[in-house]
Amino acid sequence: MKAIVAVSGNLGIGKDNDLLYNIPEDKKSFRRMTLGKVVVMGRKTLESMPNGKPLKDRTNIVLSRDKDYTAEGVVVCNDIAELEKAVENYSTDDVFVIGGAEIYKLLLPLCDTAYVTEIDDEKPADKFFPDIASDSRWKLAEKSEEFDYEGVKYKFCTYEAK
Ligand SMILES: NC(=O)c1ccc[n+]([C@@H]2O[C@H](COP(=O)([O-])OP(=O)(O)OC[C@H]3O[C@@H](n4cnc5c(N)ncnc54)[C@H](OP(=O)(O)O)[C@@H]3O)[C@@H](O)[C@H]2O)c1
Repeated sequence: MKAIVAVSGNLGIGKDNDLLYNIPEDKKSFRRMTLGKVVVMGRKTLESMPNGKPLKDRTNIVLSRDKDYTAEGVVVCNDIAELEKAVENYSTDDVFVIGGAEIYKLLLPLCDTAYVTEIDDEKPADKFFPDIASDSRWKLAEKSEEFDYEGVKYKFCTYEAK
């Protein structure tokens, strides 16, 4: 599995069940990388999407502990074992963990790669991503040049699990 995330300078990823930033090139990159693939998210992240709808042209898997939870167009898994079964026929390269904070924390140990858009800016946040840059399990494998969107600088980084 691969994780994909956009992280601010203070490791923030969200506030009030919404994203902190809306950077068009980051959205495009996310779309390009996940299109036709499997995306795995927490129930709260699904509900944070426009109209609570799953992502188009992707297999959407949603984690919820609620055994009665259903949502249109998604596969619901109640725990990691169910998730592993749901993705067993997919290549590990085709399964993307897309958040939020609880689900990154839960599934990062099962990921071999993390695609992290590092945003050189800080905003108040109530959800955070683990500090993988300082975690000896992870090494920075690639870093793009720095881009700028309306004065906010960001770069695309790839971390690989050692
Ligand atoms: N910056 C980014 O790249 C990015 C990406 C995605 C999301 N976000 C942000 O992250 C925030 C949402 O994150 P969050 O941490 O609040 O919620 P979340 O991780 O999206 O979802 C949490 C939910 O996942 C389910 N869950 C958690 N652990 C589970 C387990 N072991 N087994 C089964 N289900 C489990 C539970 O659902 P039930 O309560 O139904 O049991 C839990 O309430 C939002 O602000 C969103 O905008 C940011």
